[in-house]
Amino acid sequence: MSNNPTMKSVELTNIVKKFGSFTAVDDVSINIKAGEFCTLLGPSGSGKTTLLKIIAGYETPTDGSVKIDNRDVSHVSVEIRNIGMVFQNYALFPHMTIAKNVAFPLEMRKIPKKEIKERVQETLDIVGLSELGERYPRELSGGQQQRVAVARALVFEPDILLMDEPLGALDKNLRQSMQFELKKLHRRIGVTIVYVTHDQEEALYLSDQIVVFNEGSIAQKDAPEKLYNAPNSAFVADFLGECNIFPAKIDGNKALLDNGMALKIYGKNNFLQKIGIRPERLIIGAAAKNCENSFEATIDEVFFLGQGFKYILNANGQIWTAVSQNNLNTEEYKKGEIVSVGFDANDIISLTK
Ligand SMILES: Nc1ncnc2c1ncn2[C@@H]1O[C@H](COP(=O)(O)OP(=O)(O)OP(=O)(O)O)[C@@H](O)[C@H]1O
Ligand SMILES: [Mg+2]
Repeated sequence: MSNNPTMKSVELTNIVKKFGSFTAVDDVSINIKAGEFCTLLGPSGSGKTTLLKIIAGYETPTDGSVKIDNRDVSHVSVEIRNIGMVFQNYALFPHMTIAKNVAFPLEMRKIPKKEIKERVQETLDIVGLSELGERYPRELSGGQQQRVAVARALVFEPDILLMDEPLGALDKNLRQSMQFELKKLHRRIGVTIVYVTHDQEEALYLSDQIVVFNEGSIAQKDAPEKLYNAPNSAFVADFLGECNIFPAKIDGNKALLDNGMALKIYGKNNFLQKIGIRPERLIIGAAAKNCENSFEATIDEVFFLGQGFKYILNANGQIWTAVSQNNLNTEEYKKGEIVSVGFDANDIISLTK
């Protein structure tokens, strides 16, 4: 990908955006490499769309700078930034055919008619809609309209593609197939993508880098695996997947929980305030007794998830969540049963806040 000359890096430095006295984006710095797929993930109202608009040039930052390909564009207009954007509500022009919708950015750029026709056809091919160019948006399904919006953002060969919850309105199957298509597309054209989603699985699947937002600030940013395996705060651990989180007092190689349980923990520092253990790290049944940490718990609830089971466990008043794979040879435990639960010291995530 790195040999694609149109790929551009994005460097955000100490970006602040205030609306009146309200700070929507609070001192945000992110480096996005050329060709990277970077996802902004965070709860509603955490400043994701505002930051995308700042990159695109639809909003001016109150403070901080935006650099594209090492050039400060903080004061460069939207048109000149050469950025494609798929908005949260991917509004197509209802009175224009699909082909016209996709042609629109090229017409704005005064590209010759013949070239427009070719590029529209090529782009509709890329998103799998080459047969539907003469239809109107209302004659398309939600997923097809979404792909038209992507085509319209790609057709002028942007240096950077910004996508704000582009798959938000789709059902699970269509969403997954679009995620797959998007990933293929990204590999094929190698454009730098800044993507916004609420959906943590989508973020893990698509991204090179995930930036987790909380109330306008960055909670943590890293590669998906690192972020999932080593979240630094309860907020990130919980936002990116499920996590058993308990306040803990650290005493040497022991973590003491509120219910009196003492867990073995390796070389962790005394600054820890909480510990986290992912539900899928918990082992239930006889094998749990061989783990470095094990205890008995009562099964409060069992949920069938299709691909596995989720158990809500009560260990001396402390509630734990465990998930197991739906292997035909795993035992299924019943509500009310008392089981052994275990995990190794290495499965403990240290959380500093
Ligand atoms: N033009 C504006 N004037 C005043 N406040 C605004 C404006 N635009 C956004 N905000 C506020 O800034 C905060 C961040 O908004 P933003 O749209 O960036 O959130 P978001 O993370 O994209 O949320 P969502 O996931 O719901 O789309 C919100 O509290 C919002 O109300
Ligand atoms: Mg938004």
